[in-house]
Amino acid sequence: MLVLGLESTCDETGCAVVVDGCTILSNLINSQVELHAGYGGVVPELACRRHIDLFPPLLNLALKEASCTLKDIDLIAVSKGPGLIGALLVGLNFAKGLALGANIDFIGINHVEAHLYACLMSHPHADVFPAIGLVVSGGHTALLYIKEIGNYQLIGQTVDDAIGECFDKVATMLGLSYPGGPAIEKLAEHGDAKRFPLKAGRVKGRPWDFSFSGLKTSVLYLVKGQNADKLAPLKIHEEDKKNVAASFQEAALQDVVTKTVAAAKQFNCRSILVGGGVSNNQKLRQLFAYSSNDINILWPTKGLSLDNAAMIAGLGYHQFSKNKKSDSFDLEAVARIAF
Ligand code: KG4
Ligand code: ZN
Repeated sequence: MLVLGLESTCDETGCAVVVDGCTILSNLINSQVELHAGYGGVVPELACRRHIDLFPPLLNLALKEASCTLKDIDLIAVSKGPGLIGALLVGLNFAKGLALGANIDFIGINHVEAHLYACLMSHPHADVFPAIGLVVSGGHTALLYIKEIGNYQLIGQTVDDAIGECFDKVATMLGLSYPGGPAIEKLAEHGDAKRFPLKAGRVKGRPWDFSFSGLKTSVLYLVKGQNADKLAPLKIHEEDKKNVAASFQEAALQDVVTKTVAAAKQFNCRSILVGGGVSNNQKLRQLFAYSSNDINILWPTKGLSLDNAAMIAGLGYHQFSKNKKSDSFDLEAVARIAF
């Protein structure tokens, strides 16, 4: 079954062609980083317009690279949310137009579920369930108990900032470029993670929940002074910036590692799936390797950590195979989706 995947939840436009949920024939992504860089974050209106411009040529390239035409496509899978509502609407309406015009089934996909599915694409036959899914992205930080693909139970989530959002905000405080996650990771490479005693928050009575806003404020006060405004100038030596980045990074990542490994043990899970943009961070992979002992950890392979359309096509195949039903043309985009 040949599935065309379309992705436009935020500032990345993606088109991919995937066979039977795992063999990737093409996976094209056009990042808008340079478009938003000067604003320190994604400007929704600009993102929507860029998606409109990019989808038609990107689709042609993705089909060409997969050596097929729209006539060969059996199903169109598109991100229906969560994300920026305008950006989602562009992708969803593009999918509906193609589906209607070429008489192809189409299906809306939960982008967060697809981030976890990305870990399974290179191990389609592995015996991984039950598993704990850790989602670490710019919009989400969540722990899920996964019985099988499509059967999830939320066991914990952030009560304030998402971890990727926190990386981005700390990067802005340190004067680093957007997106902040990779910039912090790079700066932290030569830093001393023990230099500053930083810690992520705990949520009373909810051991699987996360809280990063206190950690973010601690970094703000550390680099700009007590009760400082985020626009205030830096008070630390240039030399200490790398130590702040390393101390912050380790505090944030160790928190998710500790809770995820504990949850996997508590819920008797076979494996851990780690999805979302922050899964690209090598320090996270190292900390999991130190802490997880005998538990099997599955990571997205190259090109599948950050937002992409192959994971949307992959999950689309599974969802459609189970229900054998196209979504209705009334399907709406949803900015927030509860698990
Ligand atoms: O999953 P994603 O591409 O988009 C969302 O669905 O949010 O994740 C983007 C987030 C951003 O906050 C970005 O700073 C973070 O993932 N990120 C990283 C790294 N690469 C991307 N955070 C830490 N270390 C990285 N190497
Ligand atoms: Zn994402």
